[in-house]
Amino acid sequence: MQQGYVVVAVCSAHFFSGRMSGCVNGRFFRFSSTPLIRPFWYYCVLFSPLEYIQMLFFVDTANLDHIREATELGILDGVTTNPSLMAKEGISGTEAVLNHYRKICEIVGPGRDVSAEVIATDFSGMVQEGKKLAQLHENIVVKVPMTKDGIKAIAHFTELGIKTNCTLVFSAGQAILAAKAGATYLSPFIGRIDDMSWDGIELIKEIVEIYTLQDFDTSILAASIRSPLHIVQCAKAGADVVTCPLSAITGLFYHPLTDIGLAKFLADHKKANG
Ligand code: E4P
Repeated sequence: MQQGYVVVAVCSAHFFSGRMSGCVNGRFFRFSSTPLIRPFWYYCVLFSPLEYIQMLFFVDTANLDHIREATELGILDGVTTNPSLMAKEGISGTEAVLNHYRKICEIVGPGRDVSAEVIATDFSGMVQEGKKLAQLHENIVVKVPMTKDGIKAIAHFTELGIKTNCTLVFSAGQAILAAKAGATYLSPFIGRIDDMSWDGIELIKEIVEIYTLQDFDTSILAASIRSPLHIVQCAKAGADVVTCPLSAITGLFYHPLTDIGLAKFLADHKKANG
């Protein structure tokens, strides 16, 4: 999970009663303290690294115009691609593919993860390909499918300090395996689950529960997003990241009352100012 330390301490009344309660990293605590050690608890609460949970926004595309537009919106945290998305843009051949990833990394700028998927399906092929991808640019995260060889490769990349995104995840069991292997990101495909009349958001909730209970570090990257509603549902479910087509992100902007309200403000301003 992405959350780092989340510290909320209820300090009221403790000064007199010596009792204190709060929540550190999502876990509740309650304790009493003698006046002697109370300053220590104050210190812990005040100077613990405060980092609030915020869902990241990735764009799920290999289209450079869409990536540029999402970047210009000022709310983009990263990009995911897959072989189908690369093919859709007509990118073929190893050099062209690597070059395209480089371009994506340059557009989004430093500190924004870009998932690049391996094509090999065997362990040594994935490792070879993944290393090459990781060397391309510091933003690259090696995307690996949820298979036996894929999990082995993720565990290997974890040892090497290479970031990974475990893709094609459709169950909580798979999510546990990926986290055990040390995947940086886990991509459950919620839209494809919905397409089969199951509930993709329920899977996100289940994985959030497991990862929180087990204190796994892997970030839940909700993928295969189909609509703005999916984004809102993922935020409510506690996903760490959503990766979506640009249309789902821009769909979040629209509300007819915003348009009506703005038109009225402008009309009233015009009336008053001529
Ligand atoms: C995730 O990383 C995948 O690229 C993607 O979200 C799959 O989405 P789709 O089901 O719309 O193809």
